[in-house]
Amino acid sequence: MTYHVLTLFPEMVRQGLGDSIIGKAIERGTITLDVVDIREYTKERHGQVDDYPYGGGAGMLMQAQPVYDAHRAVTDGRAVRTVYVTPQGQPFTQRLAREYAAEKELVFLCGHYEGIDERVLEEVVTDRVSIGDYVLSGGELAAMVMIDATARLLPGVLGNSLSAQEESFHNDLLEYPQYSRPAVWHGKKVPEVLLSGDHRKVEAWRLEQARSRTRQVRPDLYERYQNKQHLLHRLSGDKRNHIHMMESLRRGQGEILADRDGDILIYHQDSRICMMEAGSLEEPGIKGWEYLAGKIPSQAKWCLVTQESLVELLEQEGYQVFNQCSQFLYTLREPLPVGHRDIRVLTLEHLDYLCAHYGQEQRAYLEERTGSGYMYGVFVEGILRGFVGMHSEGSIGFLYVEPCCRRQGLAGSLEAYCVNRHLERGWIPYGHVVQGNEASEALQEKLGFYRAGKTFWWLEKKPCI
Ligand code: ADE
Repeated sequence: MTYHVLTLFPEMVRQGLGDSIIGKAIERGTITLDVVDIREYTKERHGQVDDYPYGGGAGMLMQAQPVYDAHRAVTDGRAVRTVYVTPQGQPFTQRLAREYAAEKELVFLCGHYEGIDERVLEEVVTDRVSIGDYVLSGGELAAMVMIDATARLLPGVLGNSLSAQEESFHNDLLEYPQYSRPAVWHGKKVPEVLLSGDHRKVEAWRLEQARSRTRQVRPDLYERYQNKQHLLHRLSGDKRNHIHMMESLRRGQGEILADRDGDILIYHQDSRICMMEAGSLEEPGIKGWEYLAGKIPSQAKWCLVTQESLVELLEQEGYQVFNQCSQFLYTLREPLPVGHRDIRVLTLEHLDYLCAHYGQEQRAYLEERTGSGYMYGVFVEGILRGFVGMHSEGSIGFLYVEPCCRRQGLAGSLEAYCVNRHLERGWIPYGHVVQGNEASEALQEKLGFYRAGKTFWWLEKKPCI
Protein backbone atom coordinates (compact mmCIF):
# COMPACT_ATOMS: atom_id res chain seq x y z
CA MET A 1 0.00 0.00 0.00
CA THR A 2 1.25 3.47 -0.85
CA TYR A 3 0.04 6.49 1.11
CA HIS A 4 0.55 9.90 -0.47
CA VAL A 5 0.06 12.77 1.96
CA LEU A 6 -0.33 16.27 0.52
CA THR A 7 0.49 18.73 3.29
CA LEU A 8 2.04 22.07 4.19
CA PHE A 9 3.84 20.38 7.12
CA PRO A 10 5.68 17.35 5.72
CA GLU A 11 8.00 16.94 8.70
CA MET A 12 5.07 16.64 11.07
CA VAL A 13 3.73 13.67 9.08
CA ARG A 14 7.13 11.99 8.62
CA GLN A 15 7.89 12.29 12.32
CA GLY A 16 4.41 11.30 13.40
CA LEU A 17 4.51 8.05 11.44
CA GLY A 18 8.22 7.34 11.62
CA ASP A 19 8.22 5.37 14.87
CA SER A 20 6.66 2.28 16.35
CA ILE A 21 4.66 -0.24 14.31
CA ILE A 22 3.92 1.97 11.30
CA GLY A 23 7.53 3.23 11.21
CA LYS A 24 8.78 -0.35 11.14
CA ALA A 25 6.34 -1.27 8.36
CA ILE A 26 7.69 1.67 6.33
CA GLU A 27 11.28 0.55 6.99
CA ARG A 28 10.46 -2.99 5.89
CA GLY A 29 8.73 -1.72 2.77
CA THR A 30 5.36 -3.25 3.70
CA ILE A 31 3.89 0.21 3.25
CA THR A 32 5.22 3.26 1.40
CA LEU A 33 4.78 6.76 2.76
CA ASP A 34 5.10 9.51 0.15
CA VAL A 35 4.86 12.90 1.86
CA VAL A 36 4.45 15.80 -0.56
CA ASP A 37 4.97 19.45 0.37
CA ILE A 38 2.17 21.40 -1.34
CA ARG A 39 4.24 24.58 -1.05
CA GLU A 40 6.69 23.21 -3.60
CA TYR A 41 3.95 23.49 -6.23
CA THR A 42 3.03 27.14 -5.74
CA LYS A 43 3.69 29.56 -8.57
CA GLU A 44 3.73 32.55 -6.20
CA ARG A 45 7.13 34.16 -5.74
CA HIS A 46 7.27 34.04 -1.96
CA GLY A 47 6.01 30.48 -1.61
CA GLN A 48 2.54 31.70 -0.73
CA VAL A 49 -0.24 29.07 -0.90
CA ASP A 50 -3.15 30.94 0.73
CA ASP A 51 -5.36 33.91 -0.04
CA TYR A 52 -8.42 35.78 1.27
CA PRO A 53 -11.83 34.19 0.69
CA TYR A 54 -14.15 35.90 -1.79
CA GLY A 55 -17.12 37.37 0.00
CA GLY A 56 -15.07 38.09 3.10
CA GLY A 57 -14.91 36.24 6.40
CA ALA A 58 -12.26 35.30 8.88
CA GLY A 59 -9.00 33.62 7.93
CA MET A 60 -7.32 32.52 4.75
CA LEU A 61 -7.98 29.74 2.24
CA MET A 62 -5.55 27.37 0.55
CA GLN A 63 -5.57 28.16 -3.15
CA ALA A 64 -6.60 25.70 -5.86
CA GLN A 65 -3.52 25.73 -8.10
CA PRO A 66 -0.80 24.35 -5.79
CA VAL A 67 -3.12 21.68 -4.42
CA TYR A 68 -4.14 20.65 -7.93
CA ASP A 69 -0.57 20.49 -9.22
CA ALA A 70 0.63 18.51 -6.18
CA HIS A 71 -2.21 16.05 -6.70
CA ARG A 72 -1.45 15.72 -10.42
CA ALA A 73 2.22 15.12 -9.64
CA VAL A 74 1.50 12.14 -7.35
CA THR A 75 -1.36 10.54 -9.26
CA ASP A 76 0.07 11.08 -12.75
CA GLY A 77 -3.25 10.47 -14.50
CA ARG A 78 -4.22 7.42 -12.39
CA ALA A 79 -7.62 7.39 -10.67
CA VAL A 80 -6.52 7.22 -7.02
CA ARG A 81 -8.98 7.44 -4.12
CA THR A 82 -8.34 10.85 -2.60
CA VAL A 83 -9.40 11.63 0.94
CA TYR A 84 -9.82 15.23 2.05
CA VAL A 85 -9.58 15.21 5.84
CA THR A 86 -12.05 17.74 7.13
CA PRO A 87 -14.45 18.19 10.04
CA GLN A 88 -17.15 18.57 7.34
CA GLY A 89 -16.71 14.97 6.20
CA GLN A 90 -18.40 11.63 6.90
CA PRO A 91 -17.23 10.02 10.16
CA PHE A 92 -14.17 7.78 10.00
CA THR A 93 -15.03 4.29 11.28
CA GLN A 94 -13.46 0.85 11.46
CA ARG A 95 -15.59 -0.05 8.46
CA LEU A 96 -14.05 2.75 6.39
CA ALA A 97 -10.60 1.73 7.66
CA ARG A 98 -11.20 -1.78 6.25
CA GLU A 99 -12.40 -0.34 2.97
CA TYR A 100 -9.27 1.83 2.67
CA ALA A 101 -7.02 -1.09 3.59
CA ALA A 102 -8.24 -2.83 0.42
CA GLU A 103 -6.87 -0.02 -1.82
CA LYS A 104 -3.43 -0.20 -3.38
CA GLU A 105 -2.85 3.53 -3.14
CA LEU A 106 -4.48 6.40 -1.25
CA VAL A 107 -4.02 10.16 -1.28
CA PHE A 108 -4.68 12.18 1.88
CA LEU A 109 -5.16 15.90 1.42
CA CYS A 110 -4.56 17.92 4.57
CA GLY A 111 -6.15 21.32 4.83
CA HIS A 112 -4.94 24.30 6.83
CA TYR A 113 -6.16 27.80 7.55
CA GLU A 114 -9.92 27.98 7.00
CA GLY A 115 -10.00 25.30 4.32
CA ILE A 116 -9.31 24.81 0.61
CA ASP A 117 -10.83 26.42 -2.48
CA GLU A 118 -13.92 24.33 -3.27
CA ARG A 119 -13.16 24.11 -7.00
CA VAL A 120 -10.04 21.99 -6.58
CA LEU A 121 -11.83 19.77 -4.04
CA GLU A 122 -14.52 19.11 -6.65
CA GLU A 123 -11.88 18.06 -9.14
CA VAL A 124 -9.58 15.81 -7.11
CA VAL A 125 -11.37 14.61 -3.97
CA THR A 126 -13.33 11.33 -3.86
CA ASP A 127 -14.01 11.19 -0.08
CA ARG A 128 -14.40 13.83 2.62
CA VAL A 129 -13.75 12.30 6.01
CA SER A 130 -13.69 13.57 9.61
CA ILE A 131 -12.16 11.87 12.64
CA GLY A 132 -14.63 13.41 15.05
CA ASP A 133 -16.85 16.31 15.97
CA TYR A 134 -14.13 18.73 16.94
CA VAL A 135 -11.85 21.00 14.98
CA LEU A 136 -8.10 20.46 14.78
CA SER A 137 -5.68 23.16 13.68
CA GLY A 138 -4.88 21.19 10.51
CA GLY A 139 -5.60 17.92 8.77
CA GLU A 140 -2.24 16.22 9.45
CA LEU A 141 -3.16 14.58 12.75
CA ALA A 142 -6.42 13.35 11.25
CA ALA A 143 -4.62 11.91 8.20
CA MET A 144 -2.14 10.16 10.52
CA VAL A 145 -5.00 8.65 12.51
CA MET A 146 -6.52 7.23 9.31
CA ILE A 147 -3.18 5.94 8.05
CA ASP A 148 -2.46 4.22 11.36
CA ALA A 149 -5.92 2.63 11.52
CA THR A 150 -5.73 1.31 7.93
CA ALA A 151 -2.07 0.26 7.88
CA ARG A 152 -2.41 -1.99 10.93
CA LEU A 153 -5.02 -4.00 9.02
CA LEU A 154 -2.58 -4.85 6.22
CA PRO A 155 -0.94 -8.26 6.23
CA GLY A 156 2.52 -8.16 7.76
CA VAL A 157 2.16 -4.80 9.56
CA LEU A 158 1.29 -6.12 13.01
CA GLY A 159 3.72 -8.75 14.28
CA ASN A 160 1.01 -11.35 14.54
CA SER A 161 -0.69 -10.91 11.19
CA LEU A 162 -3.93 -12.54 12.22
CA SER A 163 -4.59 -10.39 15.23
CA ALA A 164 -5.99 -7.34 13.43
CA GLN A 165 -8.44 -9.41 11.40
CA GLU A 166 -9.59 -11.42 14.34
CA GLU A 167 -9.66 -8.83 17.07
CA SER A 168 -13.16 -7.89 16.04
CA PHE A 169 -14.50 -10.97 17.79
CA HIS A 170 -15.62 -8.73 20.63
CA ASN A 171 -16.02 -5.80 18.36
CA ASP A 172 -19.46 -4.49 19.18
CA LEU A 173 -18.48 -4.04 22.79
CA LEU A 174 -15.90 -1.89 24.51
CA GLU A 175 -12.94 -3.75 26.00
CA TYR A 176 -13.24 -5.24 29.49
CA PRO A 177 -10.82 -3.97 32.21
CA GLN A 178 -7.40 -5.66 32.39
CA TYR A 179 -4.94 -6.16 35.25
CA SER A 180 -1.29 -7.11 35.56
CA ARG A 181 1.08 -7.76 38.49
CA PRO A 182 1.11 -7.05 41.42
CA ALA A 183 -2.11 -8.73 42.60
CA VAL A 184 -2.61 -5.91 45.14
CA TRP A 185 -1.70 -2.30 44.29
CA HIS A 186 -2.61 0.81 46.33
CA GLY A 187 -4.73 -1.53 48.42
CA LYS A 188 -6.78 -2.56 45.35
CA LYS A 189 -7.09 -6.26 44.62
CA VAL A 190 -7.29 -7.81 41.17
CA PRO A 191 -10.80 -9.32 40.79
CA GLU A 192 -10.77 -12.81 42.30
CA VAL A 193 -12.11 -14.56 39.21
CA LEU A 194 -9.03 -13.61 37.18
CA LEU A 195 -6.83 -15.54 39.58
CA SER A 196 -9.11 -18.60 39.54
CA GLY A 197 -7.59 -20.25 36.47
CA ASP A 198 -11.12 -21.13 35.32
CA HIS A 199 -11.20 -19.95 31.70
CA ARG A 200 -14.95 -20.22 31.33
CA LYS A 201 -15.55 -18.07 34.39
CA VAL A 202 -12.95 -15.55 33.21
CA GLU A 203 -14.62 -15.32 29.78
CA ALA A 204 -18.08 -14.90 31.32
CA TRP A 205 -16.80 -12.18 33.68
CA ARG A 206 -15.08 -10.32 30.85
CA LEU A 207 -18.18 -10.44 28.68
CA GLU A 208 -20.31 -9.07 31.50
CA GLN A 209 -17.81 -6.27 32.17
CA ALA A 210 -17.67 -5.40 28.49
CA ARG A 211 -21.46 -5.36 28.30
CA SER A 212 -22.01 -3.15 31.30
CA ARG A 213 -19.26 -0.72 30.23
CA THR A 214 -20.75 -0.45 26.77
CA ARG A 215 -24.28 -0.04 28.07
CA GLN A 216 -23.18 2.87 30.26
CA VAL A 217 -20.66 4.63 28.05
CA ARG A 218 -21.89 3.87 24.51
CA PRO A 219 -25.62 3.11 24.44
CA ASP A 220 -25.52 3.42 20.62
CA LEU A 221 -22.99 0.58 20.35
CA TYR A 222 -24.87 -1.44 22.89
CA GLU A 223 -28.06 -1.25 20.86
CA ARG A 224 -26.22 -2.54 17.79
CA TYR A 225 -24.75 -5.36 19.86
CA GLN A 226 -28.18 -6.35 21.10
CA ASN A 227 -29.69 -6.29 17.61
CA LYS A 228 -26.94 -8.59 16.47
CA GLN A 229 -27.47 -10.97 19.38
CA HIS A 230 -31.20 -11.11 18.64
CA LEU A 231 -30.60 -11.86 14.96
CA LEU A 232 -28.03 -14.53 15.84
CA HIS A 233 -30.56 -16.12 18.13
CA ARG A 234 -33.20 -16.23 15.39
CA LEU A 235 -30.76 -17.57 12.79
CA SER A 236 -29.65 -20.32 15.16
CA GLY A 237 -33.18 -21.79 14.90
CA ASP A 238 -32.08 -23.12 11.47
CA LYS A 239 -28.33 -23.18 11.85
CA ARG A 240 -27.49 -25.42 8.89
CA ASN A 241 -29.03 -23.05 6.39
CA HIS A 242 -27.70 -19.91 8.12
CA ILE A 243 -24.22 -20.73 9.33
CA HIS A 244 -22.71 -18.49 6.64
CA MET A 245 -24.62 -15.51 8.04
CA MET A 246 -24.02 -16.47 11.65
CA GLU A 247 -20.27 -16.89 11.25
CA SER A 248 -19.95 -13.58 9.38
CA LEU A 249 -21.61 -11.89 12.33
CA ARG A 250 -19.86 -13.89 15.04
CA ARG A 251 -16.43 -13.28 13.53
CA GLY A 252 -17.20 -9.56 13.48
CA GLN A 253 -17.02 -9.17 9.71
CA GLY A 254 -20.64 -9.10 8.65
CA GLU A 255 -22.75 -6.03 9.08
CA ILE A 256 -26.54 -6.12 9.34
CA LEU A 257 -27.85 -3.83 6.61
CA ALA A 258 -31.43 -5.09 6.75
CA ASP A 259 -33.43 -6.97 9.36
CA ARG A 260 -37.19 -6.47 9.16
CA ASP A 261 -40.02 -9.00 9.06
CA GLY A 262 -37.66 -11.78 8.08
CA ASP A 263 -36.01 -9.76 5.32
CA ILE A 264 -32.32 -10.04 6.11
CA LEU A 265 -29.25 -8.62 4.42
CA ILE A 266 -25.83 -9.19 5.93
CA TYR A 267 -23.02 -7.52 4.07
CA HIS A 268 -19.56 -9.02 4.31
CA GLN A 269 -17.46 -6.00 3.58
CA ASP A 270 -14.04 -7.52 2.90
CA SER A 271 -15.38 -9.93 0.31
CA ARG A 272 -18.17 -7.59 -0.90
CA ILE A 273 -20.80 -10.30 -0.50
CA CYS A 274 -24.49 -9.72 0.28
CA MET A 275 -25.99 -12.66 2.15
CA MET A 276 -29.70 -12.27 1.75
CA GLU A 277 -32.99 -13.81 2.68
CA ALA A 278 -36.53 -12.59 2.00
CA GLY A 279 -39.09 -13.14 4.71
CA SER A 280 -42.01 -13.45 2.35
CA LEU A 281 -41.96 -15.38 -0.87
CA GLU A 282 -45.48 -14.64 -2.06
CA GLU A 283 -46.00 -14.40 -5.78
CA PRO A 284 -45.81 -12.19 -7.68
CA GLY A 285 -42.52 -10.89 -6.41
CA ILE A 286 -41.40 -10.64 -2.85
CA LYS A 287 -42.99 -8.28 -0.37
CA GLY A 288 -39.74 -7.03 1.06
CA TRP A 289 -37.83 -7.01 -2.19
CA GLU A 290 -37.77 -3.25 -2.65
CA TYR A 291 -36.61 -2.85 0.93
CA LEU A 292 -33.85 -5.44 0.43
CA ALA A 293 -32.80 -4.20 -3.01
CA GLY A 294 -32.46 -0.68 -1.65
CA LYS A 295 -29.99 -1.93 0.95
CA ILE A 296 -27.51 -3.61 -1.43
CA PRO A 297 -24.35 -1.47 -1.29
CA SER A 298 -23.17 -0.13 -4.64
CA GLN A 299 -19.74 -1.72 -4.08
CA ALA A 300 -21.23 -5.21 -3.61
CA LYS A 301 -19.85 -7.78 -6.03
CA TRP A 302 -21.51 -11.02 -4.94
CA CYS A 303 -24.82 -12.23 -3.56
CA LEU A 304 -25.38 -15.49 -1.73
CA VAL A 305 -29.00 -16.60 -1.47
CA THR A 306 -31.05 -19.73 -0.83
CA GLN A 307 -34.31 -18.73 -2.53
CA GLU A 308 -34.92 -19.19 -6.25
CA SER A 309 -37.26 -16.19 -6.38
CA LEU A 310 -34.43 -13.99 -5.07
CA VAL A 311 -32.17 -15.37 -7.82
CA GLU A 312 -34.66 -14.18 -10.44
CA LEU A 313 -34.98 -10.73 -8.89
CA LEU A 314 -31.22 -10.36 -8.60
CA GLU A 315 -30.82 -11.34 -12.24
CA GLN A 316 -33.03 -8.38 -13.10
CA GLU A 317 -30.72 -6.20 -10.97
CA GLY A 318 -27.66 -7.10 -13.06
CA TYR A 319 -26.40 -10.20 -11.25
CA GLN A 320 -25.75 -13.56 -12.92
CA VAL A 321 -25.61 -17.02 -11.38
CA PHE A 322 -22.00 -18.09 -10.77
CA ASN A 323 -22.73 -21.54 -9.34
CA GLN A 324 -25.07 -23.62 -7.21
CA CYS A 325 -23.70 -25.19 -4.06
CA SER A 326 -24.53 -27.26 -1.03
CA GLN A 327 -23.50 -25.88 2.35
CA PHE A 328 -21.80 -28.12 4.89
CA LEU A 329 -21.03 -27.34 8.51
CA TYR A 330 -19.05 -29.00 11.26
CA THR A 331 -20.76 -28.56 14.60
CA LEU A 332 -18.70 -30.93 16.73
CA ARG A 333 -16.24 -29.19 19.00
CA GLU A 334 -13.57 -31.89 18.87
CA PRO A 335 -10.60 -31.49 16.59
CA LEU A 336 -10.34 -34.00 13.74
CA PRO A 337 -7.45 -36.45 13.42
CA VAL A 338 -5.00 -35.29 10.74
CA GLY A 339 -3.53 -38.41 9.14
CA HIS A 340 -0.87 -36.75 7.10
CA ARG A 341 1.68 -34.91 9.26
CA ASP A 342 3.40 -32.52 6.91
CA ILE A 343 0.85 -29.74 6.48
CA ARG A 344 2.08 -26.17 6.71
CA VAL A 345 0.83 -22.62 6.42
CA LEU A 346 1.78 -21.48 2.90
CA THR A 347 3.66 -18.26 2.18
CA LEU A 348 3.99 -16.06 -0.88
CA GLU A 349 6.83 -18.24 -2.19
CA HIS A 350 4.12 -20.82 -2.98
CA LEU A 351 1.93 -18.36 -4.89
CA ASP A 352 2.96 -19.60 -8.36
CA TYR A 353 2.04 -23.16 -7.39
CA LEU A 354 -1.37 -22.04 -6.11
CA CYS A 355 -2.05 -20.03 -9.27
CA ALA A 356 -0.97 -22.89 -11.53
CA HIS A 357 -3.55 -25.21 -9.96
CA TYR A 358 -6.33 -22.83 -8.91
CA GLY A 359 -6.23 -20.36 -11.81
CA GLN A 360 -3.95 -17.51 -12.88
CA GLU A 361 -6.93 -15.15 -13.02
CA GLN A 362 -7.27 -15.64 -9.23
CA ARG A 363 -3.72 -14.44 -8.54
CA ALA A 364 -4.59 -11.27 -6.63
CA TYR A 365 -7.12 -13.14 -4.49
CA LEU A 366 -4.71 -16.01 -3.79
CA GLU A 367 -1.98 -13.52 -2.92
CA GLU A 368 -4.22 -11.81 -0.38
CA ARG A 369 -5.36 -15.13 1.14
CA THR A 370 -1.80 -16.46 1.35
CA GLY A 371 -0.44 -13.17 2.71
CA SER A 372 -3.08 -13.27 5.44
CA GLY A 373 -2.01 -16.78 6.47
CA TYR A 374 -5.17 -18.62 5.42
CA MET A 375 -3.74 -21.08 2.87
CA TYR A 376 -2.38 -24.47 3.96
CA GLY A 377 -0.37 -26.95 1.89
CA VAL A 378 0.35 -30.65 2.15
CA PHE A 379 3.93 -31.78 1.48
CA VAL A 380 4.87 -35.30 0.40
CA GLU A 381 8.57 -36.07 0.79
CA GLY A 382 9.11 -32.34 1.13
CA ILE A 383 7.25 -31.47 -2.10
CA LEU A 384 4.06 -29.40 -2.10
CA ARG A 385 1.28 -31.60 -3.52
CA GLY A 386 -2.01 -29.94 -2.62
CA PHE A 387 -3.70 -27.19 -0.64
CA VAL A 388 -6.79 -25.97 1.15
CA GLY A 389 -7.72 -22.55 2.46
CA MET A 390 -10.28 -20.20 3.82
CA HIS A 391 -12.23 -17.90 1.51
CA SER A 392 -12.49 -14.25 2.45
CA GLU A 393 -16.03 -14.62 3.79
CA GLY A 394 -14.88 -17.46 6.06
CA SER A 395 -15.83 -20.71 4.31
CA ILE A 396 -13.34 -23.54 3.86
CA GLY A 397 -12.49 -24.10 0.20
CA PHE A 398 -9.79 -24.14 -2.51
CA LEU A 399 -9.31 -27.89 -1.88
CA TYR A 400 -6.90 -29.41 -4.40
CA VAL A 401 -4.61 -32.47 -4.50
CA GLU A 402 -2.42 -33.36 -7.48
CA PRO A 403 -3.68 -36.38 -9.46
CA CYS A 404 -0.52 -38.39 -8.66
CA CYS A 405 -1.25 -38.14 -4.93
CA ARG A 406 -4.97 -38.77 -4.84
CA ARG A 407 -6.64 -41.68 -3.00
CA GLN A 408 -4.10 -41.45 -0.15
CA GLY A 409 -6.22 -39.40 2.25
CA LEU A 410 -4.42 -36.11 1.60
CA ALA A 411 -7.60 -34.14 0.88
CA GLY A 412 -9.12 -35.40 4.13
CA SER A 413 -5.99 -34.46 6.07
CA LEU A 414 -5.90 -31.00 4.54
CA GLU A 415 -9.50 -30.31 5.36
CA ALA A 416 -9.19 -31.76 8.87
CA TYR A 417 -6.19 -29.50 9.46
CA CYS A 418 -8.18 -26.46 8.32
CA VAL A 419 -11.14 -27.45 10.52
CA ASN A 420 -8.83 -27.64 13.53
CA ARG A 421 -7.41 -24.18 12.88
CA HIS A 422 -11.00 -22.86 12.79
CA LEU A 423 -11.92 -24.61 16.03
CA GLU A 424 -8.87 -23.12 17.77
CA ARG A 425 -10.22 -19.67 16.94
CA GLY A 426 -13.67 -20.50 18.27
CA TRP A 427 -15.23 -20.58 14.79
CA ILE A 428 -17.71 -23.09 13.39
CA PRO A 429 -16.17 -24.55 10.22
CA TYR A 430 -18.35 -24.55 7.11
CA GLY A 431 -17.91 -24.75 3.37
CA HIS A 432 -19.64 -24.85 0.01
CA VAL A 433 -19.44 -27.71 -2.46
CA VAL A 434 -20.54 -27.13 -6.06
CA GLN A 435 -23.53 -29.36 -6.70
CA GLY A 436 -22.56 -32.50 -8.54
CA ASN A 437 -19.08 -32.78 -7.03
CA GLU A 438 -19.81 -36.11 -5.43
CA ALA A 439 -16.26 -36.82 -4.29
CA SER A 440 -16.16 -33.62 -2.27
CA GLU A 441 -19.66 -34.15 -0.87
CA ALA A 442 -18.65 -37.64 0.27
CA LEU A 443 -15.53 -36.24 1.91
CA GLN A 444 -17.53 -33.66 3.90
CA GLU A 445 -19.82 -36.35 5.21
CA LYS A 446 -16.95 -38.67 6.05
CA LEU A 447 -15.33 -35.91 8.13
CA GLY A 448 -18.55 -35.38 10.09
CA PHE A 449 -19.95 -32.29 8.35
CA TYR A 450 -23.74 -31.86 8.10
CA ARG A 451 -25.37 -30.83 4.85
CA ALA A 452 -27.82 -27.91 4.83
CA GLY A 453 -31.14 -28.65 3.17
CA LYS A 454 -31.26 -25.64 0.87
CA THR A 455 -29.46 -24.89 -2.38
CA PHE A 456 -27.01 -22.00 -2.16
CA TRP A 457 -26.81 -19.76 -5.21
CA TRP A 458 -23.75 -17.60 -5.72
CA LEU A 459 -24.43 -14.65 -7.99
CA GLU A 460 -21.85 -12.27 -9.39
CA LYS A 461 -22.50 -8.71 -10.50
CA LYS A 462 -22.19 -8.45 -14.27
CA PRO A 463 -19.48 -6.02 -15.32
CA CYS A 464 -20.86 -2.68 -16.55
CA ILE A 465 -20.42 -2.34 -20.30
N1 ADE B 1 -9.22 18.86 10.21
C1 ADE B 1 -9.51 19.61 11.25
N2 ADE B 1 -10.32 18.99 12.12
C2 ADE B 1 -10.53 17.75 11.59
C3 ADE B 1 -11.29 16.64 12.00
N3 ADE B 1 -12.01 16.63 13.11
N4 ADE B 1 -11.30 15.55 11.19
C4 ADE B 1 -10.62 15.55 10.06
N5 ADE B 1 -9.88 16.56 9.63
C5 ADE B 1 -9.84 17.68 10.38
